[in-house]
Amino acid sequence: MNLPSSATKSSLVLALFILFSAPSGVLAEPKNLDEIVDKALRLKPDLENGKKLYRNCALCHTPEGWGSPGGRFPQIAGQHQSVILKQLADIHDGNRDNPTMYPFSERAFAQGAQALADLSAYVARLPMVPNNTVGPGADLELGKKLYHDNCKKCHGANGEGDPEEFYPRIAGQHFLYLLRQLEWIKIKKRRNADEKMVKQIHGFDLKELSAVADYVSRLRPDKTLLADHLDWRNPDFRRDFRTAQKAQRELAEEGDK
Ligand code: HEC
Ligand code: HEC
Repeated sequence: MNLPSSATKSSLVLALFILFSAPSGVLAEPKNLDEIVDKALRLKPDLENGKKLYRNCALCHTPEGWGSPGGRFPQIAGQHQSVILKQLADIHDGNRDNPTMYPFSERAFAQGAQALADLSAYVARLPMVPNNTVGPGADLELGKKLYHDNCKKCHGANGEGDPEEFYPRIAGQHFLYLLRQLEWIKIKKRRNADEKMVKQIHGFDLKELSAVADYVSRLRPDKTLLADHLDWRNPDFRRDFRTAQKAQRELAEEGDK
């Protein structure tokens, strides 16, 4: 992730968060991430522990797991558990450029398969944001055609993905995050992507990427996966829980004074 240059102060805040949440013991480097992910998927999760572990993640992804509407932080609520674990592994492995989150994924893996199972199961069960941000709506017919011809066979008619195949749920994700990931997968900045998918979007120009991201952002996840109202707040968190975005806004306001 590229921090915007105006974010010096906020990176300071993030650095502090990271410092304070650093593990006290020596990190045991996991030998084989695939094996750990595989094991975690077969364990029975302890959601109470998952809730505790999720506190660190909520700094950026928000207590609800809804991310930021501008797409800097993705929504992770309601994602398949297998996909959450694969992305954590890929971030840990350096397959995605994500320096701010890196220490958190490293720490999650250092805690072992059971903790990973607890954390990922907790996130997967969080209800999704009912009003994710969508694109400009200008090329939806094109987006629909591109989606049906190229993406449906893996991500499903409704963008629901496939947990067995590690295909992410993409319906209901914030538009700008979708667009950024498509660009990054296309130019191989995201190095863990499915080869077939990379080939497929290789020929897409920006208009086409934007059209298909717009279409996907408007696909509705199953109702049972969504929070039942817009101002639903995660009851596992205090109302005044301070996210990185809030901290950044507050710093910016102070700066204006
Ligand atoms: C310092 C901020 C920060 C923290 C803390 C953080 N993340 Fe992230 N996370 C990000 C950013 C930024 C991205 C998107 C990176 C990109 O654009 O490729 C991301 C991406 C992800 C993704 C991939 C989502 C997708 O759709 O592919 C998952 C899963 C995830 N984070 C889970 C977690 C979990 C679990 C924790 C806690 C252990 C955590 N994150 C902590 C910033 C953070
Ligand atoms: C051959 C199967 C396949 C096809 C076809 C495919 N994808 Fe994917 N897609 C994947 C897999 C697997 C991932 C996860 C890759 C990874 O682990 O980084 C992914 C990741 C993504 C992501 C990132 C999601 C996230 O949460 O970070 C987006 C967005 C996406 N695909 C959209 C599309 C679109 C739009 C198309 C059609 C133009 C498409 N995909 C075609 C398999 C596919």
